[in-house]
Amino acid sequence: MHFRMSIQPPPFPATAAPLSPVSVLDGASALAIELSQASVTFGVGANSVPALAQTSLRIPEGAFVALVGPSGCGKSTILRLASGLVRPTTGVVIVGGREVSAKALRIGMAFQNPTMLPWLTIERNIMLPLKIVEPFRSRYARDKKGAFRDKAHALLAQVGLKGFASKFPWQLSGGMLQRANLCRALIHEPRLLLLDEPFGALDQFTREELWAILQDLWLAHRPTVLLVTHDLREAGFLASRICVMSARPGRIIDDSAIDFARPRSIAMTFEPGFVALNQRLRELIVDARSAVPGDH
Ligand SMILES: Nc1ncnc2c1ncn2[C@@H]1O[C@H](COP(=O)(O)OP(=O)(O)OP(=O)(O)O)[C@@H](O)[C@H]1O
Ligand SMILES: [Mg+2]
Repeated sequence: MHFRMSIQPPPFPATAAPLSPVSVLDGASALAIELSQASVTFGVGANSVPALAQTSLRIPEGAFVALVGPSGCGKSTILRLASGLVRPTTGVVIVGGREVSAKALRIGMAFQNPTMLPWLTIERNIMLPLKIVEPFRSRYARDKKGAFRDKAHALLAQVGLKGFASKFPWQLSGGMLQRANLCRALIHEPRLLLLDEPFGALDQFTREELWAILQDLWLAHRPTVLLVTHDLREAGFLASRICVMSARPGRIIDDSAIDFARPRSIAMTFEPGFVALNQRLRELIVDARSAVPGDH
């Protein structure tokens, strides 16, 4: 079973001659996210909080990158930079080839704390992005009882919430809300998924089930995914690349390709190579946690 996502063709003119050897996708493939010396300081003067030290990060289209690091090191801040919710204090953030601005981008984001509107049913909460993001917005007005509703129900079934569409958020458990949160991030078929600890409040078994679903989704449609997690097994199971951050103000201290064959299985996470990866990451984070914060 797969999520249905449409793949947009690359932006080549229909009449293009055979591609020249120096196309934009050659060599360095197109970047979905590019942070160049981006830093974030919240507030000003004596009360300012340096959240993210100058950070450069290049994520090609279609990559699956996990971001791990001690609490408060700036992981969510990087996601907020990529979504345009936060502006960099210094440096530049480019997403989808454009410097991020207040303009809405077609991004799916699952926040660390599920933020459902309490007066809307789960189904309506999930369909909310369709009311906001073009090109769905115009179609939604005409067709909200049709295909979109079917899609919302299919997603709910896929995450084990069949039959909960007409419940209100306060009628669901924390774990159920997180699953609904994931459905809402996926409903508008984003090419970029920003996931902030999307499985944090789930029991281990449900979490592993959802890893498999997310892996299937990524293999089938190759959206770019930036996943923040504290679960190193989750990062190793899902990601093709793991970036480790130092303590606040965070910066990336390790950036490793994760080459285990796909599709990956839960059994793989107990094999020696995987366990060794976990141990290495764990040591990096333990060191980062105990390190004296850098000069700032
Ligand atoms: N709006 C804000 N105003 C002031 N400080 C903030 C704001 N948002 C975040 N911070 C601070 O910036 C730092 C980084 O926060 P961020 O939420 O990015 O951490 P995180 O790595 O996601 O942590 P966690 O793993 O606990 O979710 C924290 O010390 C936090 O207190
Ligand atoms: Mg966070």
